[in-house]
Amino acid sequence: MSFYDKVESTFYGWCVERLLTTAEHGGCLAGGILEIGSGTAVPVVRALLRSGSDTRVHGFERDPGAAATARRAIGLTPLRNYVVDEGDFFTAVPTAAQRCVIGNPPYLPAEPGTSCAPDLWGGPRGAEVTQDVLDCGLDLAMLIVSSIADPLGVLRFARDRGYSVTDWMVTPIRFGRFCRDAGVRARIGDLAGREQAFFAPHSYLIAGVTFVRDAGARDQSAVLGDVLRAAGRASEVADPQPRAGGAVVGAPAGTERVVAGAQAGAAKRAGTAARAGTAQPVGR
Ligand SMILES: C[S@@+](CC[C@H](N)C(=O)[O-])C[C@H]1O[C@@H](n2cnc3c(N)ncnc32)[C@H](O)[C@@H]1O
Repeated sequence: MSFYDKVESTFYGWCVERLLTTAEHGGCLAGGILEIGSGTAVPVVRALLRSGSDTRVHGFERDPGAAATARRAIGLTPLRNYVVDEGDFFTAVPTAAQRCVIGNPPYLPAEPGTSCAPDLWGGPRGAEVTQDVLDCGLDLAMLIVSSIADPLGVLRFARDRGYSVTDWMVTPIRFGRFCRDAGVRARIGDLAGREQAFFAPHSYLIAGVTFVRDAGARDQSAVLGDVLRAAGRASEVADPQPRAGGAVVGAPAGTERVVAGAQAGAAKRAGTAARAGTAQPVGR
């Protein structure tokens, strides 16, 4: 399945664009950027096209269908500085020359063996893949961090590995069907009881966070922790609210996902930077 969520993927692209256009990171980015989990490639395609950056980005996508979609999408653009290989980021990183990583890693929390979209599963706390990326010892990481996936644990983990949070942006996301999978939903409730998930009945927050290994940097992690905590104190994910006319609240207008079977069309859409946003609406 090729993940593409209009709200979340667009936000990730904005965060990438901001990173690419932040002058202070220029030196670090000059050696190129790795990406974990390119999905359709649309977010980074759009960020590169909008910013005009010539920074080289090397993406890894372990889902073969998504990797093929991404390569087709990039091929439909004039970009020559973005490639996506099918494969596991963690296998590639030890021999990579790049010192920076970007990504919207999987963050749905669920116990192993419970129902959860496998490409979106982030481990029992939802934070494990993100922490594995931070454990790679790169100089800079710009990652999406979710308020339902032990955000305070992630910020502590990063600090313990010498990272400072130098920049962040936050946006709300409505719960969709994948967060309402029985195993994910139950796990989010468990984590809430342990101060490891913060959300309102119908929504949570995601942050695009820049982590930099620079002892002299002013660390924003305490402020960001307070912001993510403020996502809400609900103890369980609410049922979607039926609207008059039978539509459902909880999958925001425009939330969409490119699903298997729609992938040929997805490549075309991705190549045009998903301007039309016409993928099948199914919610996160
Ligand atoms: C939440 S999706 C994000 C996709 C895209 N970046 C976006 O924001 O629209 C996470 C993606 O990471 C991929 N992925 C997860 N673990 C990976 C790994 N170790 N190496 C490469 N890709 C991975 C999944 O297959 C999935 O496509």
